[in-house]
Amino acid sequence: MPTDASNSLESASVPTPEREDENNPRHVAIIMDGNGRWAQKRFMPRAIGHQAGVKAVRKIVEYCANQKIEVLTLFAFSSENWRRPEEEVSLLMKLFLATLQREINKLDRNNIRLRFIGDRSKFSDKLQAKMAEGETQTKDNNALTLVIAANYGGRWDMCQAFQTVAKKIATGELVSQDVTEQLINQYLSTADLPEPDLFIRTGGEQRVSNFLLWQLAYTELYFTETLWPDFDQNSLEDAIKSFKSRQRRFGHTGEQLLAKTSILK
Ligand code: IPE
Ligand code: IPE
Ligand code: MG
Repeated sequence: MPTDASNSLESASVPTPEREDENNPRHVAIIMDGNGRWAQKRFMPRAIGHQAGVKAVRKIVEYCANQKIEVLTLFAFSSENWRRPEEEVSLLMKLFLATLQREINKLDRNNIRLRFIGDRSKFSDKLQAKMAEGETQTKDNNALTLVIAANYGGRWDMCQAFQTVAKKIATGELVSQDVTEQLINQYLSTADLPEPDLFIRTGGEQRVSNFLLWQLAYTELYFTETLWPDFDQNSLEDAIKSFKSRQRRFGHTGEQLLAKTSILK
């Protein structure tokens, strides 16, 4: 029986022609962690760490666009980050809005498509309007797709997909036998994107913190002690190098993969 995993293997072996290096990951997903500790190490307020984090984002986006990586997903604010002190949450919201106000035109000029995933209904009207404006303005761009996960949780994503499916079953548009992995995929917030190939978490913690839970099923995981504001082009190159050294088996044996490669040659 064909499985999702074997489909992934097929798609992983068929590079899109315009990619810089066919062994590069198509989709890189990053948990940008360590802003607070970066600032605290310097005896500065956490806010300074978040500002430095935005600078790191700019460089990494530029690098991914130059490398012709197709999708970069950045975890900017989790559904659990509302638990932080009110002052920090409010600072993060202001920084989010100010960054969008400053960067959208620049992203557009660089042919970058901006997307947001997460429950945006909790954000201020002004922020929601700016997010929608950014998405509309850049929707036809076809270089890098930059996905910002904001008020995002992997469990939220699955719940909202299941709710849509449940409604369709209730109205008779679907029957329970239609509920397959492929169908659920279609209702996730990442439906139109390739699955992440490479997951990176900076800041030394080795956990997923409710990021793309469903989508990470076969993603290669990479953890680094580097704090997010210090994460630069060299750090990303190290992560990509590690990714390229791995054999992605998707449940197959190593021998099967070697045989497949020799058939393709
Ligand atoms: C990540 O850095 C940024 C957000 C969660 C918004 P942190 O703020 O979590 O930094 P640390 O983990 O406290 O150092
Ligand atoms: C995860 O980082 C969320 C983002 C980077 C936006 P956290 O710093 O919030 O994660 P935990 O709380 O240490 O797991
Ligand atoms: Mg953290």
